[in-house]
Amino acid sequence: MSENQKKEVNLSQKLTDEITPRFSIKKNKINGVKKIIAISSAKGGVGKSTVATNIAIAIKKLGFKTGILDADVYGPSIPLMMGVDEKPISEDGVKLIPIKKFDIDLISIGLLVSENTPMIWRGPMVASTVKTFTNKVIWNDLDFLIIDMPPGTGDALLTFSQEIDINGVVIVTTPQKIALADVRRGIEMFKKINVKILGIIENMSKLTLEDTDHFIFGKDGGKDMAKKFQIDFLGDIEINENLRKSSDDGVPYVEKFDDHFSKNFMSIADKIIKRVN
Ligand SMILES: Nc1ncnc2c1ncn2[C@@H]1O[C@H](COP(=O)(O)OP(=O)(O)OP(=O)(O)O)[C@@H](O)[C@H]1O
Ligand SMILES: [Mg+2]
Repeated sequence: MSENQKKEVNLSQKLTDEITPRFSIKKNKINGVKKIIAISSAKGGVGKSTVATNIAIAIKKLGFKTGILDADVYGPSIPLMMGVDEKPISEDGVKLIPIKKFDIDLISIGLLVSENTPMIWRGPMVASTVKTFTNKVIWNDLDFLIIDMPPGTGDALLTFSQEIDINGVVIVTTPQKIALADVRRGIEMFKKINVKILGIIENMSKLTLEDTDHFIFGKDGGKDMAKKFQIDFLGDIEINENLRKSSDDGVPYVEKFDDHFSKNFMSIADKIIKRVN
């Protein structure tokens, strides 16, 4: 290669660097919180909120002060799953006091925004919502705050991930091919914005009926994805009618039961907190 050609290559590399979008480097800590763990899934409906609530309860049962921040602007479901419908109160008209339920501190965008707020307004509200969550909530010296992230890899998720100093993200998926395609996009996005991926949880891994396993959504998809991307596999969660039912009833499964299914959540929670640095 001639000297001139070399120069051209260098120049174009420099230009490339200049035009590559910079991701925000100023990430905000959340006052009163030691570690922040996000639960995310690029695809909707794979059980992210179910996992977020039960993991939060499991971490609490492991002896840590825990909170949940429901950041799902489009479909906040944590209040229902935790059986909460009261609005957080403010003593000074500025700072919000989280709701306490099952010894968990909880704030949800669903408790701040009227159910009738049109979806189209919710997107632009995300930036101001992040500020509310980071500056205006009185979190009471929590060891861990679990964030139920908005679905997809769109603006809402990006804003939260760029503005909040997240210690790590857990990715929830089903073993299904169509979910895994979205997970791949999610992994790439978190890598790009330097959020540590703590691992993958495979939800709805199988349904066991009369000692026979049925792989409704396919088999080992999450495990294989973890291997492929060299990400830790944190465990799988079977399809369980009582898990669905307890979410609908507003008492998370892990709060209500102490059986082997609950212990599985405890062991996943233990792995998660050990991976957070
Ligand atoms: N392992 C499971 N066994 C049985 N039902 C489950 C399981 N995981 C989740 N569900 C049910 O599947 C539905 C979707 O779960 P959930 O709302 O947690 O998903 P999500 O990923 O948070 O959805 P969204 O993208 O809408 O926020 C709920 O009705 C929930 O109760
Ligand atoms: Mg959800």
